[in-house]
Amino acid sequence: MFRLTGPTVLLCAGHALADALPMRVPLRFDQGFWNASFSVGPQNFNLSVDTGSFAVIIGQGLYKPNPTSVQTNMGEFIQFNGANEDGTLMASETFFFVRDEIDFAGVSLSDFLVGNITVGDPIRDGILGLSPPASQITDPNDPTFLAGQSLAQTICSQQSISPCEFGLELKFDGTGSLIFGPMNDTMITGNITTLKTQSNDAWITLNDTAEDSPLLVINDQPFTHIIAIFDNGTPNIIGPIETVRAALLSVGYNISETSDSSGASFVFGTYDCASPARFGFSFPPSTEVHYIDAGANVLNRTADGLICTANILGASTTDLWLIGQTWFQGRYVQHNLNASTLAFADLADA
Ligand SMILES: *[C@@H]1O[C@H](CO)[C@@H](O)[C@H](O)[C@H]1NC(C)=O
Ligand SMILES: *[C@@H]1O[C@H](CO)[C@@H](O)[C@H](O)[C@H]1NC(C)=O
Ligand SMILES: *[C@@H]1O[C@H](CO)[C@@H](O)[C@H](O)[C@H]1NC(C)=O
Ligand SMILES: *[C@@H]1O[C@H](CO)[C@@H](O)[C@H](O)[C@H]1NC(C)=O
Ligand SMILES: *[C@@H]1O[C@H](CO)[C@@H](O)[C@H](O)[C@H]1NC(C)=O
Ligand SMILES: *[C@@H]1O[C@H](CO)[C@@H](O)[C@H](O)[C@H]1NC(C)=O
Ligand SMILES: *[C@@H]1O[C@H](CO)[C@@H](O)[C@H](O)[C@H]1NC(C)=O
Ligand SMILES: *[C@@H]1O[C@H](CO)[C@@H](O)[C@H](O)[C@H]1NC(C)=O
Ligand SMILES: *[C@@H]1O[C@H](CO)[C@@H](O)[C@H](O)[C@H]1NC(C)=O
Repeated sequence: MFRLTGPTVLLCAGHALADALPMRVPLRFDQGFWNASFSVGPQNFNLSVDTGSFAVIIGQGLYKPNPTSVQTNMGEFIQFNGANEDGTLMASETFFFVRDEIDFAGVSLSDFLVGNITVGDPIRDGILGLSPPASQITDPNDPTFLAGQSLAQTICSQQSISPCEFGLELKFDGTGSLIFGPMNDTMITGNITTLKTQSNDAWITLNDTAEDSPLLVINDQPFTHIIAIFDNGTPNIIGPIETVRAALLSVGYNISETSDSSGASFVFGTYDCASPARFGFSFPPSTEVHYIDAGANVLNRTADGLICTANILGASTTDLWLIGQTWFQGRYVQHNLNASTLAFADLADA
């Protein structure tokens, strides 16, 4: 049926269009982070898409009240690691939730919980969290504690996307997209790797034994088994300091060590730009190695272009490996909130 008169037609056409078109949000790379446009009431923000955290929060001083905003007395205090381009910065944020009307991916949602940072370190316009649901949404002992609301699940339920899944396809040229719904097979090439992940808090892979846990691979050689969290909101690869030191030394890199005012220590490795080592991960039982793109794995180089710093950070603050956006580049990474899986493949046209 197709009626061509009256306002009903406009409504129907608009609705049909929203259902038929793939829901695709353009992303833009900016100094280690991937920006997406997000509207709250009349305000528009560039938020960092972050599969490593849960809530949507807006940077201190930016979120103005509007006719649709309703304050709550519930909120949270969060510390983020990897808050700057080289991954060494921590950011602490205190925020309170406001119920408001938002627009994202062409979908309007009312009464969505938006975090309003009242005291915090700079985190650009803010963060758009896409982790699996927080295990602790509220705290019976603290009536003011609220972890937030899952943007992905809210969009899935409003748009009837089931299973609830979304993909990130991040290219080498600084463009990419967040796509709701099934993986688009025409965009990928090669094998799809599917990993079982935790159902709460983080896209962290599950293993039954140490032998089936992910492997760090250097120049085609397995280096060590690791516990891996996939997090596109981390700017690089961050691992436990002693393991990273040993990994970088194993390929002859020079180590540079720093510490911050809180006593955390960090290592980076420098190397001759003409002969980089290849760093990647494999996921048993498959032996296929998924390398970090060579270009994305250069954090910086000296003015003469001869000495490079690898974009891999060893930090005393972590026992786990954060597989950040440098590894996502060139891939389509699909996140399924119902099945609790993460699946990925190379982009056909990165
Ligand atoms: C899949 O990706 C191709 C290439 O980008 C695009 O033309 C097509 O519209 C996409 N299909 C869906 C269902 O999103
Ligand atoms: C978001 O970033 C783009 C590119 O830098 C810019 O053109 C746009 O004005 C920004 N939007 C907001 C709301 O800051
Ligand atoms: C966000 O918090 C600031 C500081 O407390 C406040 O001035 C502002 O009105 C709040 N914004 C909203 C939308 O409630
Ligand atoms: C990304 O967003 C930040 C604000 O969060 C803005 O300063 C920056 O210009 C944006 N960059 C791009 C390339 O969109
Ligand atoms: C996915 O989870 C949602 C929320 O729990 C549920 O409504 C939906 O039916 C599930 N879809 C599938 C395919 O399991
Ligand atoms: C894809 O998987 C098949 C079967 O496991 C394997 O033979 C093939 O080498 C894989 N492709 C790549 C590019 O590794
Ligand atoms: C999963 O792998 C990690 C890293 O190898 C290991 O420390 C841990 O014991 C493994 N978990 C189980 C249940 O075997
Ligand atoms: C490594 O350190 C040695 C000794 O300080 C120095 O001669 C060499 O240039 C350094 N190489 C790189 C790649 O940093
Ligand atoms: C490269 O980055 C590291 C870590 O941020 C920094 O310590 C070093 O000074 C930088 N080197 C150059 C040449 O920019």
